[in-house]
Amino acid sequence: MKELEMLVREIVRSGGLIKAVFSRPRDKSVVRMTSRIIELKNSRYMQFETFLCDGKALQKNVPEEDCTEEIMRQASRFRQIDLITGSGTCEALISKSGSCHIKNGIKGKPLPVPLEKNDREHRFILDPEKAAPFLHKLGVCDESGRIYDKKRSKYRQINRFVEILDDVYRYLPDSKTITVCDLCCGKSYLTFAVYYYLTAMKGRSVEMYGVDLKSDVIAFCQKTAEELHFDGMHFYCMNVSDFHPQTKPSLVVSLHACDVATDVVIYNALRLDVDVALLTPCCHHEMMKQLSCAPLAFVSEHSMYRQKLCDALTDALRCKRIESYGYKVTALELIDPEETPKNILIKAIRTPMSEEKKAAALNAYKEAIGFLGVHPYLDALLSGETPQ
Ligand SMILES: C[S@@+](CC[C@H](N)C(=O)[O-])C[C@H]1O[C@@H](n2cnc3c(N)ncnc32)[C@H](O)[C@@H]1O
Repeated sequence: MKELEMLVREIVRSGGLIKAVFSRPRDKSVVRMTSRIIELKNSRYMQFETFLCDGKALQKNVPEEDCTEEIMRQASRFRQIDLITGSGTCEALISKSGSCHIKNGIKGKPLPVPLEKNDREHRFILDPEKAAPFLHKLGVCDESGRIYDKKRSKYRQINRFVEILDDVYRYLPDSKTITVCDLCCGKSYLTFAVYYYLTAMKGRSVEMYGVDLKSDVIAFCQKTAEELHFDGMHFYCMNVSDFHPQTKPSLVVSLHACDVATDVVIYNALRLDVDVALLTPCCHHEMMKQLSCAPLAFVSEHSMYRQKLCDALTDALRCKRIESYGYKVTALELIDPEETPKNILIKAIRTPMSEEKKAAALNAYKEAIGFLGVHPYLDALLSGETPQ
């Protein structure tokens, strides 16, 4: 281990470490860990990011001068470390007894890596210092805008969502107050971020409705909105099925509405004829119970593949059904799938579409559900039936 420590120290001192990858963990709840140098508030840190089996990612920032000791401390938790530099990679294999076998492929002294390449902070659309008042209330950062290590993943998710909103902003009405619904809003990270983006960054007047079944989070959100003087934010504790907004929304957003709650959200968005819907479904259970398709039995007989197949089919069917109402629909990645598997966002933009094209989408949808032997909740809602 002494040899590894000397090597790490030398690479860190040269400023040439692009990334260290820690793999083959001894702890079964961990997938892997990576580390790299970043700049935070004009100081250099090594950021350690641990990816867990449950999809979470934990971050820890260590001052650069202490990072060799931290790398060596972490080394005991993994069987392999790859030190990646611009001049090659050094691979260290660590046995249970602590002995270390090193394959050093680094040619000469590693060249320093420009820090800008490492620093991801500047790319975020939400300036954490400016957005600090609401991010702090939601527990994402401190009062000065320093993002808490445990909330970095949430911060990235919020930013990515706002970036997608920024991209579709041109499809929202430009001349009046914008009405937005966040359905199944939970703690309302997105509700506040969307409100902040539209009011503070775009200068718009906004009516924002957040709806969720949980009375405690709704009370928290209402109080937070009042404390922030975010006028025009309203929160309702109710089932989204029963929600009928006072003004017609232009935008519906929904992040991780469980299972068929996403279908109720889509039903509301279509019924209200919104301009844009941004939805990230999660917890796909419905089709798992229904799928009955002999030609696909070779996939669905494996429970792991059955779940993936049902997730993809459920969301692709949702996309097709939304399309049949005259929307251009795109499925895109919300954030790095290493952070959460619930990661696909459905972007629907109302667009002029011929009746033939809408009918073709509906036919394709009907044909697909017949082939799959499923009766989607969304279809029942839209057909005016009582969903089973
Ligand atoms: C996984 S959480 C996501 C919360 C929030 N959107 C977020 O991403 O942080 C799902 C939320 O949906 C709410 N929910 C589920 N079904 C609902 C329904 N039918 N009506 C209203 N809220 C519902 C739950 O109470 C929960 O807060």
